[in-house]
Amino acid sequence: MIYRNAILSDIEVIHPLVYKYAQEGLMLARSRNQLYETLRDMIVAEENGEILGVGGLHIVWDEIAEVRTLAVAKQATRRHIGSEIVSRLIADGKKLGVKKFFTLTYQPEFFSSLGFKEVTKDELPQKVWKECIDCPKFPNCDEIAMILSD
Ligand SMILES: CC(C)(COP(=O)(O)OP(=O)(O)OC[C@H]1O[C@@H](n2cnc3c(N)ncnc32)[C@H](O)[C@@H]1OP(=O)(O)O)[C@@H](O)C(=O)NCCC(=O)NCCS
Repeated sequence: MIYRNAILSDIEVIHPLVYKYAQEGLMLARSRNQLYETLRDMIVAEENGEILGVGGLHIVWDEIAEVRTLAVAKQATRRHIGSEIVSRLIADGKKLGVKKFFTLTYQPEFFSSLGFKEVTKDELPQKVWKECIDCPKFPNCDEIAMILSD
């Protein structure tokens, strides 16, 4: 398995992967525009030329970043690809000075296994809500907020 920064030609694989899970209600959809604009946030897992997973770390404010756009192809789940992607995103973020990592998720067991703790959404900094306003679910968010901090 190779873990590497996402490149432009990966978008046409990442988009349907995320879209499919979004249709199942497992994560939020990302438009191609959002994916292109945040391409530098993302890393992918690639095996024999096939993209099997993706995840992004989006810097939100001083010392805080969001783990987002995390998806592992169905046939490749439970091979620790998702946890490897998140661990790498966290290691990269720490190098930049990120102290708090949060996520909004429907998969609390997965994030708990990586040390994230559930918090109430109002424990997240106000800046986080800027992006929520654009979410189709706003203000009825049913995702679970989780934080990993030092
Ligand atoms: C959630 C997801 C990213 C996990 O990726 P993965 O590569 O399958 O996860 P891992 O193999 O790294 O799992 C690590 C640990 O998390 C926990 N875990 C993972 N998936 C789980 C699940 N469906 N239910 C309960 N625990 C789970 C387990 O403790 C697992 O360790 P174990 O297999 O040794 O028991 C993947 O299932 C996925 O893409 N799901 C659909 C999209 C999605 O929900 N994305 C997250 C949006 S924030």
